[in-house]
Amino acid sequence: MNPYDIKIKVAAIGLNRADLYIQKGMYRKGAKPGMEVSGTVTNMGKEARRFAIGDKVCALVEDGFNPIVTVIEAMALPAPANLPLTHAAALPEAMATVYLNLFLLARLKPTDSLLVHGGTSGIGIMAIQMARTIGAEVSVTCGSPEKCALAIKLGATKAINYKQDDFVAAGGFDIILDMVGAPYLQKNIDALNPFGKLLIIGLIEGSKAELPMGKLLLKNLSIIGSTFSSRPLQERYEILETLREFWWPKIESGEIRPIIDGTFPLTDVAKAFEKMENFKHTGKILLIP
Ligand SMILES: NC(=O)c1ccc[n+]([C@@H]2O[C@H](COP(=O)([O-])OP(=O)(O)OC[C@H]3O[C@@H](n4cnc5c(N)ncnc54)[C@H](OP(=O)(O)O)[C@@H]3O)[C@@H](O)[C@H]2O)c1
Repeated sequence: MNPYDIKIKVAAIGLNRADLYIQKGMYRKGAKPGMEVSGTVTNMGKEARRFAIGDKVCALVEDGFNPIVTVIEAMALPAPANLPLTHAAALPEAMATVYLNLFLLARLKPTDSLLVHGGTSGIGIMAIQMARTIGAEVSVTCGSPEKCALAIKLGATKAINYKQDDFVAAGGFDIILDMVGAPYLQKNIDALNPFGKLLIIGLIEGSKAELPMGKLLLKNLSIIGSTFSSRPLQERYEILETLREFWWPKIESGEIRPIIDGTFPLTDVAKAFEKMENFKHTGKILLIP
């Protein structure tokens, strides 16, 4: 065991859409599914100081579809005391990604108007709530009236059912958080205000599109792509530290909460993937090893 590692007995695994891509061989070569877990610390390297044996934690991991995982302690956070331990597995990946994108890369301000595609995705539910804590106005796209209603309940001002309405008509956004990709590139550019920022974190509907460069220049737009897991290690540690210091109290006070769609035994992961692939879930699916 490396000196700064901790061993975690896994209570739950937070399922991410990237796990689906990994399982299909459509993600980084060699990647294994299981990006975030919650559980109990059972063992520690000799220099590990942040936790004690028996502590309840959640963590960003690699190869997390396992009953026991080992991770460097800087990638772990205490499990919020107000939540069931299993629910803590729904927090780190979405919150770290949203913090990186909205706050570090786009420098979201209280006066900004934000559009989040996939408003009730694992990412979307956290993006709405985290942006609302500073008072930014949040609009979302969702694929059903029920999902639109949940997004509004979580703090969105406007929820657009993308199967019925065109979000460009609701345009005038300073920042757009996009996971849809190719078919939305031109629409996103049209829907942004001058000096707007487009954050691309996913390519659910495709990765190749034509870029109207004239509009990019005339509107002074920025397009920023990122993947949290490929950011420098030190940056990821610092983001987790900020989550612990600034955002964890908001989880513990109930101001921000995870939305759990449901749980599946890890042995039924195929059923969980099928539900996620067909967008039949709302918020996070958890797997129990
Ligand atoms: N770059 C990074 O660092 C990073 C980190 C984490 C996740 N991600 C990416 O972020 C995305 C979300 O991840 P997740 O685990 O939260 O996935 P998820 O829960 O499966 O959510 C997928 C979302 O996509 C929405 N969607 C699909 N087609 C759409 C369309 N045409 N218009 C608007 N929304 C549409 C779905 O909306 P409905 O359900 O309402 O139909 C659903 O909310 C994935 O692409 C994932 O790979 C990126």
